[in-house]
Amino acid sequence: MIEGHFIVIEGIDGSGTTTQTRVLAERLSDKGLPVRTTREPSDGPIGVLIRQILTGRVVVPGLHGVHAPSWATMATLFASDRLDHLEAEIIPNLTDGVTVICDRYDYSSVAYQTVSSGGGDDVSTWVRELNRRARRPDLTLVLDVDPKVATSRRNTRSGSPELYEVDEMQVELAKFYAKIDELFPNDTIRHIDANCGVEEVTAAIWSEVMALRGESV
Ligand code: TMP
Repeated sequence: MIEGHFIVIEGIDGSGTTTQTRVLAERLSDKGLPVRTTREPSDGPIGVLIRQILTGRVVVPGLHGVHAPSWATMATLFASDRLDHLEAEIIPNLTDGVTVICDRYDYSSVAYQTVSSGGGDDVSTWVRELNRRARRPDLTLVLDVDPKVATSRRNTRSGSPELYEVDEMQVELAKFYAKIDELFPNDTIRHIDANCGVEEVTAAIWSEVMALRGESV
């Protein structure tokens, strides 16, 4: 059995990773390919806990008031969730010949936990080390978007902002994603201009995925 491709879609909040994950899966499925979408934080037990933290449903009452866990705690939670996600869902599907499209993966950890720490190289090195056993994707698509465009997209969503949905942080995250290739020189990374409409972004993603598959568009 030939393994499926492992494709990851990354970007700041409001860059369109969730929409593009869904649309890409629909297009591959229309071609008759077995495909599965998934996301991180995952829908496994650690991922569910993380989402509760991100949405403020779990707060940690401490001596100095109520606060979210530190960036370092979040980094270890995300890394644990990732390994569990790989073992429980991603690898079994790839082994069965299914193409897996994952909405966020370890670049999110390196970007978000480094930026939220306020730190630099030593933090990103530690976060990469925590994720060293995470299988490398066959292709990572980074959706590059102007943080102002992403903010206006987020503002059209219902619900309260999540933990990292703070405009200043998103500006730093966009800069971080722009140079993510330097931290992962052996990965196959394609940057996609995601400032335009959904169809244009989908078309750019499609040509990269067809190139990965050795097919013409
Ligand atoms: P979502 O909004 O795309 O569902 O992702 C949840 C949030 O979690 C988003 O703000 C990015 C953040 N995140 C991290 O900080 N580190 C990670 O490793 C992952 C996967 C997500």
